[in-house]
Amino acid sequence: MNSILRNIIRPQHIGAFLCLWFFAGHLQAGEYAVASASPLATQAGIDVLESGGNAFDAAIAVTSVLAVVEPYSSGIGGGGFYLLHQQAANRQVMLDARERAPLAAHRDMYLDASGKADKDLSLNGATAAGIPGIPAALEHLQRNYGRLSLQKTMADAIGYAQNGFEIDDYYRSVAKWRLEVMQRYPSTSAVLLVNGEVPAERAVIRQTDLAKTLQSIVSNGKAGFYEGDVAQKLVTSVRANGGIWSLEDLQQYELIEREPARFRYGDADIIAASLPSSGGIVLNSIFNMLDQLDHDQAEPVEAIHQLVEAMRRAFRDRAEFMGDIDHVEVPVARLSSAAHAQQLLKNYSSAKATASADLRGVAATEGGNDTTHFSIVDADGNLVAATLSVNYPFGSGLIADGTGVLLNDEMDDFSASPGVPNVWGLLGTEANAIAPGKRMLSSMTPAFVHTPERSLVTGTPGGSWIITMNLLGILEFLNGGNAEAIVSRRRFHHQYDPDVIRYEANTFPASTVEALMEKGHQFKVYPWRTGNMHSIIIDKKTGKLDAASDPRGEGQAIIAGD
Ligand code: GLY
Repeated sequence: MNSILRNIIRPQHIGAFLCLWFFAGHLQAGEYAVASASPLATQAGIDVLESGGNAFDAAIAVTSVLAVVEPYSSGIGGGGFYLLHQQAANRQVMLDARERAPLAAHRDMYLDASGKADKDLSLNGATAAGIPGIPAALEHLQRNYGRLSLQKTMADAIGYAQNGFEIDDYYRSVAKWRLEVMQRYPSTSAVLLVNGEVPAERAVIRQTDLAKTLQSIVSNGKAGFYEGDVAQKLVTSVRANGGIWSLEDLQQYELIEREPARFRYGDADIIAASLPSSGGIVLNSIFNMLDQLDHDQAEPVEAIHQLVEAMRRAFRDRAEFMGDIDHVEVPVARLSSAAHAQQLLKNYSSAKATASADLRGVAATEGGNDTTHFSIVDADGNLVAATLSVNYPFGSGLIADGTGVLLNDEMDDFSASPGVPNVWGLLGTEANAIAPGKRMLSSMTPAFVHTPERSLVTGTPGGSWIITMNLLGILEFLNGGNAEAIVSRRRFHHQYDPDVIRYEANTFPASTVEALMEKGHQFKVYPWRTGNMHSIIIDKKTGKLDAASDPRGEGQAIIAGD
């Protein structure tokens, strides 16, 4: 866009106006699709769509099967965010099923006598677990959006829990990584390990207690988890293992419907998770900066430099300002504004990397892989993008006795103390300090992107990289890329601290690395799997779908119908 015109009519100003125009009548696909991290979950979603269910019923099926067959990523002991688009009402909403801190939690609960954060307490066992949100989401989806009963949509999950499922190599590799913690708890070891060790290839894992708890949710809705026998067992087990949950914590848990983050970039209308996920605001801020830098005109090396400099600045804001909006004031409008992006770019140089320490210096640690994402489009054009998590692989490592519920370790997503980074290396301040009943800041960023020609439903796991992986995927989409190109795109990430560009091997030609190092950038190859993206594209002209699951993972995308 002509830059004078752009400064008079900011795309953000006209976004709210145009988004109605983009949605109306364009998404009825006829075809339908599900893309998730597990072929069993994808098939369960497709089966629900084929038996009269809509995208929201399919989301229940996929969530509950993933909770059984991918216990290292998500589960009914965890939480997450569902981005919904109801085509008939042209309505978008975010279901916030994020965990919250127990009522007995307090700001310094993970600090030792010397004021140092004890990672074992915030990552492992009962002390690490927030109050789960997924059971509330299952009931909420069914009651407010679905057409089918939970008995129908959760039947496959209960079957896999009762009769078992065959593990894959990824299960074995992450179980190996979390083995010591899983071995601490007989209730976990007896179910997810075999003779206390990583199960053999293709071992079958049965979770009969989990089947009963899932059945309890089918029979009683969220009360089947947050009240009665299951709630009592959860609290007893958490407290026996040193945790602080109470029955009141469970009874008080509420899913919250929130307005998603919305913004424009060029002719694209982008809708993404809002607080307590930082994802939408951070993405918005990065796109605002790219817009001001005329990113679409940049040469390849300059384009990477711009992306890194925008990531660096937006992640600094994340650390400084973001937390649970119901507990702290977050200047969302300011952080999302073009004026703020202009301010952030004041010290931007196209010739030289800005040292993060010149913005505000901090230290950080490495992270692994976690979380799950799925995308759904139904034949009526309803959309679901959901990113769910138990945080670290296999969450806290503790299955609450007699429930089959593997508890999350999302409490580590709070900042244990200002200046102490979480497991993803993300630094926080007061905005994300621990408080009773507060939701911890997240990076999970399920997203929809609409251009006049196509729509994208997308997301990925990956800790702090979630936001930048989505950024790169969305840019690929806006560049005309198909679903395969979006999920396969090589990835790099900068999060302000550490002040280094982490990247997948073979992302950049040597000459590009050299040119960027001359500008002062540091590089480090990331040795683990980055993300597991699942994306669906709707061609608005033909109604045809295109879907793909990340080649780095074991997932599957299925398109059916018409
Ligand atoms: N536990 C990962 C996230 O919420 O960002």
